[in-house]
Amino acid sequence: MKDTSVKILAIETSCDETAGAILIGKLKTKKPDFKILSSVVNSQIEIHKKTGGVIPEVAARAHVKNIVPVVSQTLKKAKLKLSDINLIAVTAGPGLVVSLVIGVEFAKTLALSTGKKMIPTNHMEGHLYSGNTASFPALSLIVSGGHTMLVLMKDLFHYKVIGSTVDDAAGEAFDKVAKLLGLPYPGGPAISKIASGVKTEIEFPRPMLNQNNFNFSFSGLKTSVRNFIKDNPKVKKNEIASAFQEAVVDVLVKKTLKAVAKYKVKSVSLSGGVAANKMLREELTKACKSAKVSFSVPPFEMCTDNAQMIAIASYIKLLSGYKPVAFNKVCADPSWEIK
Ligand code: KG4
Ligand code: ZN
Repeated sequence: MKDTSVKILAIETSCDETAGAILIGKLKTKKPDFKILSSVVNSQIEIHKKTGGVIPEVAARAHVKNIVPVVSQTLKKAKLKLSDINLIAVTAGPGLVVSLVIGVEFAKTLALSTGKKMIPTNHMEGHLYSGNTASFPALSLIVSGGHTMLVLMKDLFHYKVIGSTVDDAAGEAFDKVAKLLGLPYPGGPAISKIASGVKTEIEFPRPMLNQNNFNFSFSGLKTSVRNFIKDNPKVKKNEIASAFQEAVVDVLVKKTLKAVAKYKVKSVSLSGGVAANKMLREELTKACKSAKVSFSVPPFEMCTDNAQMIAIASYIKLLSGYKPVAFNKVCADPSWEIK
C-alpha cells in the first residue's frame, strides 16, 4: 500500500469521547481497501456519571485536557509521526458545539502548521460507515444518543434518510428512563444489564409502529414509563426496564423490517451507541434471517463514539471523489444533518 495509498488521521470530539484514529487506504480502487493502524478513545463516562448526564461545559473541559494526549497516543500506537500523515479528518458536526470546536480547531491548527489538507466529516456518516454493508440496496439503522434514523443506501456513496425520530432519540430515551429508575449514566448499558433475562407482563406503547412512514417517536414512551412508575411504586425496576427495552427494540425492529420489504433491500446494518444493546442485536439478527436479508453490526467498541468510524467515512468520501480542503474552509457545524 505505498504509492497509491493515503494515511488519514481522524479526530472525533462531538460529544463526550475524545478520540483519534489513523487509517491507511488504497486510493485507486472502486471498493474500499483499508486498514486501521491505530484507534484511541478517551471516554468521559466516569465524569458524567456524577451528574447523571453530559454537561457541555464539563465535556468541553475534558476534551481540552485530553485532545493532545489522545492524538499523540494515536500517532504513537501507529508508530507514525505527524509528517507521515497525508490528510487530517475531523468530525465537524452534528454535536455539542463546545465539544466539536475543540477537535475541529485542534485539527485545523495541525493542518495549518503542516500544510496538510482536511476532510471535515459528518458524525452520522461515521456511524453509517462503521457497519460493514455487504450488498446493495442496503438499509442502515442508526441509533445513538442524539439520533435515530433509517438510511437507504443505493450503493456505498449514495444514501437517503427515509425516517428519523420526531422527538427523542432511542439512546436519549434509554438515558432518560434510566434516570427515572435511578440508574447511572449512560442509561443504555444500565437498563440492559438489569433487564437481562427478566420476563414481564408490563406492556408499554409502541409509538408510531402502525403509521405509514419510517419515523420514530420515543418521548411518549418515556412519559408512559414515568406515569407507570408513579402509579405502581411497588413494581420492581428490572421489570420496568425490561418492558421499556422490549418496547424500544420492538419498534426499531418492526419499522426496519417494514422498510426492508418496501425497498426490497439485500442487507441491513445497525450502528450507533444503542447498537451495543444485546437484545436489539439479537432481535434484528433473527428478523433479518426470517426476511432472508444479510445483517451486520460492528463490534461493541465500534458502536459507541470513536474516531475509527470518522476515518473510514472520510476515506469513503475520498473514494467518492471528494476533494480535501484547506484548514480555513473547515468550521464546526453543530446542526449539520445528513439527508
Ligand atoms: O453513538 P453514541 O456513543 O453517542 C452519540 O452519538 O450519541 O451513543 C450513546 C448512546 C447513549 O444514549 C447510551 O445510553 C446508548 O448509546 N447505549 C446503549 C447501550 N450502550 C450505549 N443503549 C442501549 N443499550 C446499550 N447496551
Ligand atoms: Zn455517535
